[in-house]
Amino acid sequence: MMNATVHKLLNEQINKEFYSAYLYLDFSNYFKARGLDGFANWYMIQAQEERDHAMLFYQYLQNENQIVTLEAIGKPDKVFECDMDVLKAGLAHEEYVTSLINDIYAAAYDVKDFRTMQFLDWFVKEQGEEETNANDLITKMELFGSDPKSLYMLNQELAARIYSAPSLVL
Ligand code: FEO
Repeated sequence: MMNATVHKLLNEQINKEFYSAYLYLDFSNYFKARGLDGFANWYMIQAQEERDHAMLFYQYLQNENQIVTLEAIGKPDKVFECDMDVLKAGLAHEEYVTSLINDIYAAAYDVKDFRTMQFLDWFVKEQGEEETNANDLITKMELFGSDPKSLYMLNQELAARIYSAPSLVL
């Protein structure tokens, strides 16, 4: 039987990941309106990955015969002053998600729920990559964002990002 706190946190994470997808869809929407289709593509794929993350938590709970309760997804309500604000909000959000994954891991550790810890190992690694990607994007924007030709090239680079399904299969 899964510990009630671990169950609650895993269930909440479904909602947090769907919110992440919604947030990145909003980022994509912002860049689409700006005419930066490459940035819009990058965040659209980010949104797809977040949906995958949500489904992994959903599937894990179902596989463990645990009840899944779906809650309302919050409205992304940030208003951005500039492109860099969006990128920085992305990094801050990933750091927040890392803290959530760490909290679930700690709760599982406390009750010796080794199966949940093993499931979460993939997310621990994934969060490292997510933060690196968000940081890299900020660095590139700092270096090239103020020059229109360089911004055009960066936008082209981000347009090349393609979706790939998560390597974790349940
Ligand atoms: Fe599902 Fe970007 O963390």
